[in-house]
Amino acid sequence: MSTPADDPVPDVPEVPDVPDLPAEPVVIRGDGLVLREWTEADLPAMSELFDDPAIAHRTPLASPFDAAAARAYLDRARATRADGTRLQLAVTEDGGAPLGEVLLGSLGTERPAGAVTLGYAIGGAHRGRGLAPRATRLLTAYAHDSLGITRVRLQIEEDNAASVGVARAAGYRLLADVPPVAAEQKGRKYLLKAWEHTAEG
Ligand SMILES: CC(C)(COP(=O)(O)OP(=O)(O)OC[C@H]1O[C@@H](n2cnc3c(N)ncnc32)[C@H](O)[C@@H]1OP(=O)(O)O)[C@@H](O)C(=O)NCCC(=O)NCCS
Repeated sequence: MSTPADDPVPDVPEVPDVPDLPAEPVVIRGDGLVLREWTEADLPAMSELFDDPAIAHRTPLASPFDAAAARAYLDRARATRADGTRLQLAVTEDGGAPLGEVLLGSLGTERPAGAVTLGYAIGGAHRGRGLAPRATRLLTAYAHDSLGITRVRLQIEEDNAASVGVARAAGYRLLADVPPVAAEQKGRKYLLKAWEHTAEG
């Protein structure tokens, strides 16, 4: 005879306790940076920053990244911000000119725990100044402290030394036991390794 204790425990999917993104524009300040949401006025700067061979090679961003690509990118950023699945922030020093981008993706309460990802790209003229490590630390802290996201992940190609440097400098650790994820962009196949930062540090 079966008793309640013998019944199999239903497979309850693990979901993160991620509150909705705030309705008002997000601004995150610290470490000499102001992270703010993209605006219409940023369109010309977006083309200057993102029409770049390293960004074309390492990210899904369009190449060439011309005015039409910038328009489409801003429109998509607004749509995914509105549906609560992505938060894309311009990296600035004073709230003005954008120098790059840092983003949280795969947000939303329907996502499996551990799926929230962070990404970054810095314009070629602004690299090597610690912008990405600082922006990543700020946005990671915001994810933990303001959005209640316990785990944030990066997905990095093994030979992307600058990005691995960002991960290390921002306190992420390589998840050696998580198999690399196969990706394909612009006809190039590659493997992405997972790095993680937890709210506990
Ligand atoms: C990756 C990227 C965002 C780094 O931005 P950045 O602001 O220039 O970062 P920095 O170079 O100032 O800092 C990165 C860290 O890696 C180190 N680093 C940078 N280039 C490196 C290299 N070629 N080899 C080893 N370490 C490197 C830096 O010394 C720094 O570490 P530190 O803080 O301990 O000194 C930028 O190179 C970029 O936009 N690349 C193209 C897009 C991309 O690859 N995005 C990430 C996809 S996963």
